[in-house]
Amino acid sequence: KRIAIVASGSGSNAQKIMEYFKYHDQIEVALVLSNNPDAYVLQRADNFEVPTHVFDRHDFYETDEIIKLLEKLEIDLIVLAGFLWLVPANLLQKFPNKIVNIHPALLPAYGGKGMYGDRVHRAILAAKDEESGITIHFANEHFDEGEIIYQARFRIDPDDTLEIIKFKGQQLEHLHYPKIIENLLKKM
Ligand code: GRF
Repeated sequence: KRIAIVASGSGSNAQKIMEYFKYHDQIEVALVLSNNPDAYVLQRADNFEVPTHVFDRHDFYETDEIIKLLEKLEIDLIVLAGFLWLVPANLLQKFPNKIVNIHPALLPAYGGKGMYGDRVHRAILAAKDEESGITIHFANEHFDEGEIIYQARFRIDPDDTLEIIKFKGQQLEHLHYPKIIENLLKKM
């Protein structure tokens, strides 16, 4: 089974996923896609000798270039990992329940347009919540709204800083995302 990862930024989740499947006998990361030619995730992919592809808005929303590439490479699952654009309808239709996303909060809380990166953690701190977590869910035509596959939680201590909350969430993401991906692919 073959995975394509789509990421806009650093790609620490992509890194963990590529590590996890590097010597896997049935699953491989076959492609890393990015809308950002400067994204560090592309460097990480090179380090794992995973092919990369950069696209722009026009390619993504006005052509079927990406769909053709995914089909050519026989991709079974599309993994969004810090990807900041909405997935277009034609891609969702071609890959029904085969596009997953990860979000650094307990959805439906702290999700939606504009809720990404440090903004999420700042909002959680401002609300003085006592717990937070991560959500892995299917992508749909809205930001952070598809069916939830898995959530993991952590405690927020009163003196936790933004960096600490972010770190706690990242640890959970890195631990669970590869395993959830593996489970989904095993069922396919
Ligand atoms: C993660 O926090 C993820 O939940 C969100 O974007 C971030 C990506 O981080 N969707 P990284 O690029 O994998 O380090």
